[in-house]
Amino acid sequence: MNPARIAVLISGRGSNMQAIHQACVNGDLDAEVISVISSHAKAGGLDYARQQGLSHHVASDETSLEQLLQSLSPDWIALAGYMRILSATLVNPWLGRMINIHPSLLPKYPGLNTHARALSDGASEHGATVHFVTEELDAGPIIQQARVPVLPDDTADTLAARVLGIEHALYVDALRLCVNGVARFQQPA
Ligand code: GRF
Repeated sequence: MNPARIAVLISGRGSNMQAIHQACVNGDLDAEVISVISSHAKAGGLDYARQQGLSHHVASDETSLEQLLQSLSPDWIALAGYMRILSATLVNPWLGRMINIHPSLLPKYPGLNTHARALSDGASEHGATVHFVTEELDAGPIIQQARVPVLPDDTADTLAARVLGIEHALYVDALRLCVNGVARFQQPA
């Protein structure tokens, strides 16, 4: 079978996108990054895309994103630090083929500021989740999660760094389950 064609959507630094691309290059993932699409022209991740000679685009509104995705026709869309909320109109045609990484153990802490919220709750563990994207924010079926301990001296920044440390392998593992057909989208009951 041909390698799965993945479009990666970013808004910032793009370290998850880089991990996905490296896994494709190394043969850890039977896939290729066909395009990096950023919501912001100044996203740091675009520098990496340029350096690597990856196809890259800026789509700053949903209409241009929709057109771009239609024309690229990827097998998978991986949201990796993508900070826009997508409408049902955009999401629904890609149901089961669009996935996201979120820095919490969903269903805990959907939305923003997950690390600070885990700390203020006195959580003893925290982590990250890769899930299928549905129209409801951070609520689609979970593909895989990874956990880290919360340590007594943690700040939101130290906890965020520990979580990011497990995100990259988690995202690659979850994408492997997707491209191999092991993880399949099912409508929640
Ligand atoms: C990650 O923590 C991701 O879970 C969250 O935003 C951060 C993006 O980091 N959605 P990067 O751009 O992949 O480095």
